[in-house]
Formats: sequence, structure tokens, C-alpha cells
Amino acid sequence: MLNFNYSIPTKIFFGKGQIEVLGREIKKYGSKVLIVYGKGSIKKTGIYNEAVNILKDNNIDYWELADVDPNPRITSVREGIKICKEKEVEFILPIGGGSSIDCAKVIGAGYYYDGDPWDLLIGKAKVKNSLPIGTVLTLSATGSEMDAGAVITNMETNQKLSVGHPTMAPKFSILDPEYTFTVPKNQTAAGVADIMSHVFESYFSRTKEAYLQDRMAEAILKTCIKYGKIAIDEPENYEARSNIMWASSLAINGLLGYGKGNDFKWSVHAIEHELSAYYDITHGVGLAILYPNWMRHVLDDENVYKFVEYGINIWGIDRNKNDYVIANEAIDKTREYFNSLGLPATLEEVGIGKENLDKMAKAAVDHNKGTVGSFKPLAYEDVLNIYMASL
Ligand code: NZQ
Ligand code: ZN
Repeated sequence: MLNFNYSIPTKIFFGKGQIEVLGREIKKYGSKVLIVYGKGSIKKTGIYNEAVNILKDNNIDYWELADVDPNPRITSVREGIKICKEKEVEFILPIGGGSSIDCAKVIGAGYYYDGDPWDLLIGKAKVKNSLPIGTVLTLSATGSEMDAGAVITNMETNQKLSVGHPTMAPKFSILDPEYTFTVPKNQTAAGVADIMSHVFESYFSRTKEAYLQDRMAEAILKTCIKYGKIAIDEPENYEARSNIMWASSLAINGLLGYGKGNDFKWSVHAIEHELSAYYDITHGVGLAILYPNWMRHVLDDENVYKFVEYGINIWGIDRNKNDYVIANEAIDKTREYFNSLGLPATLEEVGIGKENLDKMAKAAVDHNKGTVGSFKPLAYEDVLNIYMASL
């Protein structure tokens, strides 16, 4: 295991009714709040009313940034920063999924930067500080509720880029599985694929001796596989929703990556972000399409052992079979599982043809300092081949 410094600073309030802590927790940071939310699901479900009533009861003043898109835009971030500066906001409260949370994080970081916040995404400026945020999560997927990163889209430049800084990690997150009962089947499925993909990104690494992290990773994958389908078939199954919700946070909060080196680069996320940037597709759907094709592309004599481990431990494949047979069966099982959740398996199914594959492959490599991923670093041709195999 490689050296690491452990720090997962977000306080989690998990379970039914935990929203009752909202007022108390916010007041530790201030009493002027910007609420950030999406296209209105929180109004339909009643979570909005529940939250604002608590703010009122606690004499907390609030302003709102609504209408945040899935794949949140830099334009929303700019709008949010303007409100925070005008109203001297002290705390940001996203209520929703990863999009609202990511938007809130970059508003918080942009508040302390005098130029255009897009500079923070393209690396022209570095995040130095951030307004504190706390989240109320309504969709299990990205893990943004417990990590320090955010992904923002610029539709004018066809770029979807990420930024991270320790000060961007939420101070607290309220995880009430009942809030996810209303998540539609397709978003539930995409969320499960996203969680599994976060696990894959650190599981398929070149560090061999992080045995403990790999077993924890397998536990999260098994949880997703066991409960993903149940959550889709029975949206109000609390056991399923709660297990998926906690899996979402644990998959990306750092736990699985510790001891694997700070410089390991993610692979399929980098390839997927170009799909979302060009076609505005759902992140988890893009990942489900790409992952099995990435696995097939990178599989070789040096790393087959990892796919064997995955095949035996996750899919229960007979260990007496030939290594490549196990690896390929494991990849098939991964695709079959995503299919069973009703997720698309090809780019064609989400309306993507050959027209931009070349540009997207170049962009994926450019945005990642020349090669994508570190499990098996991929050049432009490799990324293009993975896109082609996904058509
Ligand atoms: O906009 P509203 O009306 O709220 O509806 C949303 C949206 O349409 C709906 N929804 C959310 N909770 C609901 C609900 N509908 C009914 N009932 C509920 N309880 O679901 C739709 C998708 O929401 P969104 O927030 O976009 O989804 P998700 O959580 O998957 O976030 C996706 C974004 O996060 C980024 C993705 O790239 C994408 O931009 N990611 C962020 C990461 C991070 N910060 O660490 C890591 C991830 O890998 C990912 O890249
Ligand atoms: Zn993801």
C-alpha cells in the first residue's frame, strides 16, 4: 500500500427525518443562505417546503438559484456568484443531485475569485478558498455530497471540465433515502452505473497491494448489483434505496483510492465527459455504454489478473477456467447487468453517430495531459477505438 493522508471531512446525517438538523448545522456558518436546485423535482416532492420552513423557523435569510440543468452550466455558476456577492451570502445549500451540488461548489469557489469562474475549470486560475456548503441529497449517483470535486459544462465551447479543492467539500450532507423514492427508473439506473463506475476507476489501478481497498470496492459493487434492480422495480424499498445511497457516497469519498497513489488518473470518466459535453447526455448512461468496451480494449497479459479477480469475486465465475475466459465472461456480465437495469448499450441508442468521435477523442486526450487514465494509459487512437466499439 502506498502512503496517504486520510481526511474525509464531510459530516453525514443519514436516515429518515435527518433534515431536522438543517437549521442548527447551517447556523454554525452564518444566517444568509443561497439555495441551489434544479428543474423543480424538489417542489413536487415537498422537500423544498420542508427545507425553507426550517430556514424560516431558524431566522435564516435565503435567496434562490433555480433551474440548474443536469450537466450544470457555467452560466448558472455565474448567476449564483452574482447573487452571493450582492446579498453577502455566507452559506450555500444545494438540494438535489450532483448537478445542483456541483454548481453550488463552483459558486462557492468562484465567490473568492475576481475573474470569470470558467478560469477555475480551464486551469487559468486556482481555487484558493470557497464559501461553505451543505447538501440535501435527492439522487444517489455522483458522490458529490461527500467529495471535493465538481464538474461544470460550457455549452459554447463544448467542454465539460472538473475542478477540486479541499475547501469545496461539503461541511455536511443530509442523506435521507426516502428523498430518493421519486427518482425515475432511468435516473436510478444511471445513478447505479455511475456509482459502479466510480468504484471501477479506483479498483482497476496498477497498485497491487491495496488488498483492503479492493475488498471494500468489491463490497460496494456487490451492494449496487444486489440493490440496483430492486430500487428500480420497487422505488419505495427503503432497504434498497438506503444501501444504494450510502454506496454512492463511499464510492468516491476517497476511501477506495487511498493507498493507490495520488497521481492515478481516471479513465472512462474522461472519455464520458466528452460525450456529455458534445451531446448533453446523462453521465451514468454514457458510462454504462463505455465501460465494458473500455474493459475489453485495455485487457492484456499484464492486467488480466485484475479482471480475473473481478470475475471471480464479483460474478462468481469458476476460478478453474482460463484467465482470458474469466476476464471476458466478467466483461459480458457487466454489460448484461447494465442491460438488466434498462440502460442503453450503444451510442446509437442515445442519438450519437460518428460525426464528432474524432474531435471528442482528441479533446479527451488534450484535457488529460496527453493520455487518458493510468491503469493503461490511452492515446488518441485508443480512445477513438473505444468510441467506435461503442457505436
Ligand atoms: O432538476 P430536477 O428537477 O431536480 O430533476 C433531476 C434531474 O432531472 C432529477 N431528480 C433528482 N432528484 C430527484 C429527481 N427526480 C425525482 N425525484 C428526485 N428525488 O434527476 C435528474 C438528474 O439530476 P442530476 O443532479 O443531474 O443527476 P446526478 O446526480 O447524476 O448528477 C450528474 C452530474 O454530476 C456530475 C456529472 O458529470 C453530471 O454533470 N458528476 C459529479 C461528480 C462529482 N462532483 O464528484 C462525479 C461524477 O462522476 C459526475 O461526473
Ligand atoms: Zn461519475
